[in-house]
Amino acid sequence: MSELSERPVDAVVGLEVPHESAALHATGTALYTDDLVVRTKDCLHAHPVQAPHAHARVTALRAAPALAVPGVVRVLTAEDVPGVNDSGVRGDEPLFPSEVSYVGQAVCWVLGETAEAARLGAAAVEVDYEVLTSLVLVTEAIAAGSFQGGRPTVARGDVEHGLATSARVFRGVTEMAGQEHFYLETQCSLAHVDEAGQVFVQSSTQHPSETQEVVAHVLGLHAHHVTVQSLRMGGAFGGKEMQPHGYAAVAALGAVLTGRPVRVRLTRTQDLTMTGKRHGFHAGWTVGFDPDGRLQALDVTLTADGGWSLDLSEPVLARALCHVDNAYWIPHVRLHGRIVRTNKTSQTAFRGFGGPQGMLVIEDILGRCARPLGVDPLDLRRRNFYAEGQSTPYGQTVRHPERARLVWDQVVASGRVEERRPEIAAFNATHEHTKRGLAVTPVKFGIAFNFKAFNQAGALVHVYKDGSVLINHGGTEMGQGLHTKMLQVAATTLGVPLERIRLAPTRTDKVPNTSATAASSGADLNGAAVKHACLQIRSRLDELAAGREIAWEDLVREGYLGRVPLWAAGFYRTDGVEWDAARMQGHPFKYFVYGAAAAEVEVDGFTGAYRILRVDIVHDVGDSLSPLVDLGQIEGGFVQGAGWLTLEDLRWDESDGPTRGRLLTQAASTYKLPSLSEMPEVFHVSLLQGAHEDGAVYGSKAVGEPPLMLALSVREAIRSAVAAFGRDRDSVELPSPATPEAVFWAIERARAGATDEPVAHVAPGVG
Ligand code: MTE
Ligand code: MOS
Repeated sequence: MSELSERPVDAVVGLEVPHESAALHATGTALYTDDLVVRTKDCLHAHPVQAPHAHARVTALRAAPALAVPGVVRVLTAEDVPGVNDSGVRGDEPLFPSEVSYVGQAVCWVLGETAEAARLGAAAVEVDYEVLTSLVLVTEAIAAGSFQGGRPTVARGDVEHGLATSARVFRGVTEMAGQEHFYLETQCSLAHVDEAGQVFVQSSTQHPSETQEVVAHVLGLHAHHVTVQSLRMGGAFGGKEMQPHGYAAVAALGAVLTGRPVRVRLTRTQDLTMTGKRHGFHAGWTVGFDPDGRLQALDVTLTADGGWSLDLSEPVLARALCHVDNAYWIPHVRLHGRIVRTNKTSQTAFRGFGGPQGMLVIEDILGRCARPLGVDPLDLRRRNFYAEGQSTPYGQTVRHPERARLVWDQVVASGRVEERRPEIAAFNATHEHTKRGLAVTPVKFGIAFNFKAFNQAGALVHVYKDGSVLINHGGTEMGQGLHTKMLQVAATTLGVPLERIRLAPTRTDKVPNTSATAASSGADLNGAAVKHACLQIRSRLDELAAGREIAWEDLVREGYLGRVPLWAAGFYRTDGVEWDAARMQGHPFKYFVYGAAAAEVEVDGFTGAYRILRVDIVHDVGDSLSPLVDLGQIEGGFVQGAGWLTLEDLRWDESDGPTRGRLLTQAASTYKLPSLSEMPEVFHVSLLQGAHEDGAVYGSKAVGEPPLMLALSVREAIRSAVAAFGRDRDSVELPSPATPEAVFWAIERARAGATDEPVAHVAPGVG
């Protein structure tokens, strides 16, 4: 067993401790970035001037009328930028654009003494536009050849041969919508400048180091002039990985130009109309099966809707391509990827980072082909699982493939799946207008960043003379419980109780050059760095103790008097990850996380409305660092996934009228989020036991994103229920999201015996 994963008997990791801020969250006393504004003297408020067109040239901008509004202090425009007028790291996102690329894009920003003054000032700014043609739908963009970024291909074997020798071949299209993050705390930044021109930005960001980098390049400063702090976020879900940079830059620019603190905090409508979302995808596919229903060959063209700029679309697409296989062995594969440029918000990271979209494609294929193949969907899935020694389409050997079977068999047993199936069949036989469906789906999700350099982390641990401990690390807290885990890691490594340890907010002047807290790897990376720092201090003190029984406080005091350094910097880099982005081959993941979910739904034939009756989950988190935190992540991730797949319906105005390209779902009233009433009525979540992961911090595995994809079981359960309205052998096509309305029309098609069947043919020379 590696030293990193070895766990002492009296470990604080593994204990069921509450989230470190649970009491503050529950009592409303936890501070978020915008809460600091009331404690900030002379703060100015910023308001954007948002473009009304999906695509247009800015031909004139008159700020003077805004300056006449009482309380307006300044209007920030492109001329004010001392450095680079760009809010990203790709150079394709002008902060103050001369050409607008989506409805709602900020053209300039108004600073006011109050938020209201800034708002009135923004309304008074006059902008002239020359309207240009725009692309809203993915299909329009494909037809127009509007692509951006690279066009990677993952391939193995000989797809043509594989299809030609398959017993059954199906062809189809799978489209899926994006998703709004709907974090409770909208994007927020608060910037100060000190007497020496040092810029301090507090930002609700998952990636403080990159926010720092962007603020510095916009201001034309070096990184050491800019410090970014991320206090804690009221949810992020990937939406604060790249999107915060521009808002932080506006606040910082305003602060530099006025000498006063500047606050940028988006209203909910601004956040919905300005910030990127999960990518919608379009997939065209051809699949071949052998006579036993084993996958032989798969050919997919996956098109991501990137929105107006690249942002994280390329890595999101790469992860999507690397998850089309999910838990299934496919001998011959060819997966093409491309990104369209459309006149919409710049779509970005969202929990799963393309993985969910890739996995939806294969689950949709299996769900649609099972019935025409005459194979039970449960059997079809399990039959196709990876076996020992097999590798993914991108060339990584699948280690521990038996875990997919293990979690699957456990969930089938604990969920009494085999006993419930005849009960459901009996129910369906006696209910003409209500049908139930049950499905089990697996998750295999790769952990690590494809971009190798991101797989590093730092920490800074101080032990003070009185024996109290303060830890800093490069990860950010967004509610996922990273800080709780880091406290447990430090307590375990130092061998002191949790109460001795505090954790300070994440700052770029404490730990530099950090990676985004993303890809679920926050605890893996920062945990190993915190452990490394603590080990150094522990071994110095152990040497001093020389085997004596001595209390921690006494030992620390002796250490100070003996001039032993009582603080240390920790560092970690993940070894063994390799990725050739040009060939789309390598070993990009440190390990895979496995899970399985069994979901049962009841669908109403009159309305298409459904209830989630029961969900059972068995999920692999290695040896959990913090079981309560992990259970919360699994439950929350699952529900967020169910929202994406069944409720949340992003709509953009596709008409040719003056409101073309406008986001129609601009509020919680028109964008349905899961709430308590959509929770499964029976919900059993358990962690896979004895799941120690060698080579990861204290034997644990990442947890943040993979559970979202367990929700594919709900979509497949709905498909089964819809199928029960029709004939046994008919394939059922379901849009994503499968909203009650969409489900209603699917039921109508099933009842009519309409063939939703993927275009099928028997391959030449077979059968
Ligand atoms: N959980 C909560 N409560 N809030 C969040 O914003 N983000 C998710 C996940 N769980 C999120 C969350 C996403 S997208 C990721 S990548 C991980 O947490 C990041 O944290 P980790 O690496 O520490 O797991
Ligand atoms: Mo998570 S989408 O990697 O921030």
